[in-house]
Amino acid sequence: MEKIPVYASTDYEVIIGNGLIDEAGNYIAAALKLEQGTEKKITAVIVSDDNVFPLYGERVKKALNEQGFKTLEFVFTHGERSKSLETYGKLLEFMCESHVKRSDMIVALGGGVVGDLAGFAAATYQRGIDFIQVPTTLLAAVDSSVGGKTAVDLVSGKNQVGAFYQPRLVLCDIDTLSTLPPEEYACGCGEIIKYAILESEEFFDELLEKPVSEQYEHVIATCVNIKKHYVENDEFDTGLRMKLNLGHTFGHAVETCSGYTILHGQAVAKGMAAVTLAASEMGLCSKETAARVLEILDRYDLPKDISFGVEEMYNAMLVDKKNSGTVTNLIVPMAIGNCRIMKIPTEKLKGWLEEGGVEG
Ligand code: NAD
Ligand code: GLY
Repeated sequence: MEKIPVYASTDYEVIIGNGLIDEAGNYIAAALKLEQGTEKKITAVIVSDDNVFPLYGERVKKALNEQGFKTLEFVFTHGERSKSLETYGKLLEFMCESHVKRSDMIVALGGGVVGDLAGFAAATYQRGIDFIQVPTTLLAAVDSSVGGKTAVDLVSGKNQVGAFYQPRLVLCDIDTLSTLPPEEYACGCGEIIKYAILESEEFFDELLEKPVSEQYEHVIATCVNIKKHYVENDEFDTGLRMKLNLGHTFGHAVETCSGYTILHGQAVAKGMAAVTLAASEMGLCSKETAARVLEILDRYDLPKDISFGVEEMYNAMLVDKKNSGTVTNLIVPMAIGNCRIMKIPTEKLKGWLEEGGVEG
């Protein structure tokens, strides 16, 4: 088991290990500094989706009830399209009608969609209640459950409404990853590859030598340690943390253009392929670096080609938060383990897309 502390506006631990959800009540009571084993005056609203709750919901509920927490459940239809103002509103109405108080909490049981939406509800319901992240996708384990970015999407753009709001605990039970569909496993690997390209050639080589699924605890802990560094140094994403958006400038546009039918991790993979190819075409990184990035994406069954046109992608990028008016902060690989934030005049992004293999 690994316990990684994160020091931010709220300090918390990320606990990574096996068999953790059956002990969720103990870990949450400890994180909230509550007496173990006694009845609590706290209701835990378990927020989950209709794939995850049937698999793990009752076990989490039992673990919470055993520790004296009362529980409520809010389960919505899985998928990015539910990360909406509509679902968010329904969750808030449900909590208000159920007399959920400021001293109660939300337990987000699921992937990044559940975590982002539940976290935003926790940040805003009665001006903020506690929340716990229980990630059940690889992507959520290595990325979205840590760092306090919460959001919902608008029709015209992804993550356009949200808040920075840190959880009180992240409880990552590796056993839950055993039921992940293969394409969701691949999506998580996309974000893991992102950390390796950003920070560590040694980690990149480890991912090529041994599949992620054979070294979950090590891989998740490595990614969380990398992310922790970014979050602790730039919690509110004004500088260093922007690097975590490697592949996301083009990736978010791919998601928007596809009407969210292309999964986040797949879109990020396409974005990483395009920005690396463009960087090598412009002489910013070597051809060998680009070839290695494409090789590892292939190894993990991740897609590389963008099938939307330059104009369509460009228009989608105009609503992205990374684009501050006339300039976009684009994260560009110089080598494996070394990326740079480049301020690109926004209209020049069309040229980057073309160099990255996107057709007019
Ligand atoms: P997701 O939450 O939609 O989960 C993917 C699918 O897997 C869903 O159908 C879900 O029901 C299913 N699932 C989840 N856990 C399962 C399990 N253990 N067994 C079987 N099925 C399971 O998607 P995701 O990839 O986890 O997250 C993507 C979202 O995360 C996007 O909205 C993205 O914007 C967001 N994100 C946020 C951050 C952040 O810092 N907040 C970072 C990266 C991504
Ligand atoms: N996933 C990007 C970030 O947390 O900043």
